[in-house]
Amino acid sequence: MSEKRKIGIAGASGYGGGELLRLLLGHPYVEVTLATAHRQAGQRVDAIHPHLRGLYDLTCVETAVTDAWGALDLLFLALPHKESPRVAAELPPSLRVVDLAGDFRLRDPQQYARFYGGEHPAFELQKDFVYGLTELQRDAVGKAHRIANPGCFATATLLGLGPAVQAGLVQGKIIVDAKTGSSGSGANATAGTHHPTRDASFLAYKAFAHQHVPEIKQLLFDLNPQWEGGLVFQTHSAPMVRGIFASCYITLQKPMSMQEVRSVYAEAYAGSPFIRLVEGSPNVLWVRGSNFVDIGFALEDDQLIVFVAIDNLVKGAAGQAIQNMNLMMGWPEETGLLSPGACP
Ligand SMILES: NC(=O)c1ccc[n+]([C@@H]2O[C@H](COP(=O)([O-])OP(=O)(O)OC[C@H]3O[C@@H](n4cnc5c(N)ncnc54)[C@H](OP(=O)(O)O)[C@@H]3O)[C@@H](O)[C@H]2O)c1
Repeated sequence: MSEKRKIGIAGASGYGGGELLRLLLGHPYVEVTLATAHRQAGQRVDAIHPHLRGLYDLTCVETAVTDAWGALDLLFLALPHKESPRVAAELPPSLRVVDLAGDFRLRDPQQYARFYGGEHPAFELQKDFVYGLTELQRDAVGKAHRIANPGCFATATLLGLGPAVQAGLVQGKIIVDAKTGSSGSGANATAGTHHPTRDASFLAYKAFAHQHVPEIKQLLFDLNPQWEGGLVFQTHSAPMVRGIFASCYITLQKPMSMQEVRSVYAEAYAGSPFIRLVEGSPNVLWVRGSNFVDIGFALEDDQLIVFVAIDNLVKGAAGQAIQNMNLMMGWPEETGLLSPGACP
């Protein structure tokens, strides 16, 4: 490709924005030409993200006042919930967008109000967005102009449950027990995410109230409208910085062999370069810093446990956003993303 496509990142000073900047350095077809921030506007991106020192000559402008959107080929929104739609409402309709926040994932405004609190700033734009769980929505993503990138817990859970639900293998309630590292809460420390209170701690949070529940149910029903809909989803905060580990407990319609289960998943993920079916348990360490999704199984008669490990900031955010961009732009979905990360 002769000329690189121009990419903007709104929220480039945050963790998601930082990962977009890092990963896009390895992308052959794009260059980041616009970076925005709020409190950190006016600072160079490599001062905010010191691991990128010398790799970018770019200064963050204030998100609210930039008028440079029109010069871009695609914009990533890596902003807090409720800020994304405010910016989206100002964008030229022709601009391709991948939104990392939760505002455009839900088709039901009542679910949005319940799980995100209060009114949506621009719900009329939601219909323009395709839910971008790449492996299970590949065709729709390829045709999309705007993508609502899935949440990190939702990504792990849906990749673990999708093939079984789609194939009609599940009976009764599914239970998902998921853990996240501290970077899932973003760059600004709060009492609950501050290192002294976070390190060496382990706790459950948002019982029956996590905002990713409705997007998980929404896609599972899209995959199989006959699915019974029972889901108990519990999140935990684990003493690590990166990673999501989801254990998904399923009762099968009938006893199956491990070979049968694995072949359902292998078929569902044929042609999915980032999905790796592993023996036994996956490990967040094996996917850290990468876009890979490791999935393992445990099985006894009709009781199946699907284990999923991802990096919340990569496959759970910036990596999947770039994977979706690749499909939207007509490039191979793995472009710029095949690096395996660091282990240990
Ligand atoms: N962290 C994850 O693992 C993860 C995974 C999936 C999805 N997400 C979603 O991705 C989005 C970004 O998450 P993050 O973890 O990168 O958050 P973050 O580290 O807190 O970064 C937020 C970014 O938004 C900017 N910002 C904050 N308030 C703003 C305002 N009022 N107007 C304009 N810009 C504002 C910040 O700029 P300043 O710092 O300059 O103020 C920063 O660049 C969120 O919607 C989050 O839910 C995060």
